Amino acid sequence: MSESLPTNLQGRRILLGISGGIAAYKAAELVRGLRKGGAEVRVVMTEAAIEFVTPMTLQALSGNPVRVGLFDPAHEAVMGHIELARWAELVVVAPASADFLARLHAGMANDLLTTLCLATTAPIVVAPAMNRQMWQAAVTQQNVVGLRGRGVIVWGPAEGEQACGEVGPGRMVEPAELLAQCDSHFADGPLKGVRVTITAGPTREAVDPVRFISNHSSGKMGFAIAEAAAQMGAEVRLVAGPVALPTPAGVERIDVESAEQMLEAVLADPGEIFIACAAVADYRPAEVADKKVKKSAEEISLQLVRNPDILATVAALEGAPFTVGFAAETENLIENGRGKLQNKRLDMVAANWVGARAAGGGFNSDENALQLIWHDGEEALPRCHKHELARRLLEVVVRRFQQR
Ligand code: PMT
Repeated sequence: MSESLPTNLQGRRILLGISGGIAAYKAAELVRGLRKGGAEVRVVMTEAAIEFVTPMTLQALSGNPVRVGLFDPAHEAVMGHIELARWAELVVVAPASADFLARLHAGMANDLLTTLCLATTAPIVVAPAMNRQMWQAAVTQQNVVGLRGRGVIVWGPAEGEQACGEVGPGRMVEPAELLAQCDSHFADGPLKGVRVTITAGPTREAVDPVRFISNHSSGKMGFAIAEAAAQMGAEVRLVAGPVALPTPAGVERIDVESAEQMLEAVLADPGEIFIACAAVADYRPAEVADKKVKKSAEEISLQLVRNPDILATVAALEGAPFTVGFAAETENLIENGRGKLQNKRLDMVAANWVGARAAGGGFNSDENALQLIWHDGEEALPRCHKHELARRLLEVVVRRFQQR
């Protein structure tokens, strides 16, 4: 994550909601960072949250009275809850517990925080934090998908060691990362407020518990696009295959392994612009052995079945996003790229050489070159660092997205 200080928060009005969970204490650090960046912060806590961190702490850090109850005549007299909902330019609920997500999804208004979320027109961000089983529970996942579908922005959760001693997804994203995301949210740029979903890296298709089929993608190209999109103000979801790269500042990252998992993560919110940079395995083993396959015969065969085509699936959605596919080619770059544009019904293709003709570009290198192809035009982006290339690619995407 970038260490730079937030630059876009000056004078911004942020309503921070805190629901009940051990991560509530981290909200104090977030308030401090937001204030340091120049934002005005008002804190609303649920009854459960005050079991974990005191309102007095948040009041001292935010410089404003902290609100908990819906029916508090003294607070209502100063700023009524509807006024507070109107005041906010951004609502961030961190941590957002499983209970809070469920109530938000159900449209309940049974405490001040959920009431404010219903009454506000400001974008709502939730930073989930809970035990990994609770996060993975089908009903929580349905709630999150439903919330995303209604435009709620979900940052995290992160993976790692949990307060309960378990390890897995469910940790609240660290305050420094939430701060960077808030900063990016207010960044001015041609993609300000636009939801962009990007796939990056390879997929792994399991053969048995220790082996898989994959490819040479490092994720560098896709991560560079995600970083450039966030810098242009987009709300970026980066669906990443297994790669060893840090998450760009202001980007929501979802880690997956297989093509099927990648498809599911993408369909949860394909965004308004979808850029498929991942090198998705076209085939997967028909059967995954549950034990390590032992060395025996001189020859063995592996039967493969077709994976879903993520890009084509998104492009065929009703109300599909502006859809950009990549084409990794070892011959006939433009012809094959144009073929993919037409066959998959895309808005644009970014074609690049891979293999011998890549000449220092393509897979796992810092540089690349792209041939952009759309229905009535083309543009060549000559070889340069993937960060620069990503920015130039997005400039063309923005132009064509706006003309769509
Ligand atoms: O990750 P790096 O090391 O930086 O390398 C970058 C890159 C070479 C991987 C990248 O620039 C690139 O070319 N990505 C696309 C790789 C690829 O799978 O190309 P393709 O021509 O096989 O697929 C065409 C398009 O369909 C791609 O957008 C791909 O993401 C998508 N696809 C393919 C198969 C599938 N089952 N689902 C898909 O969505």
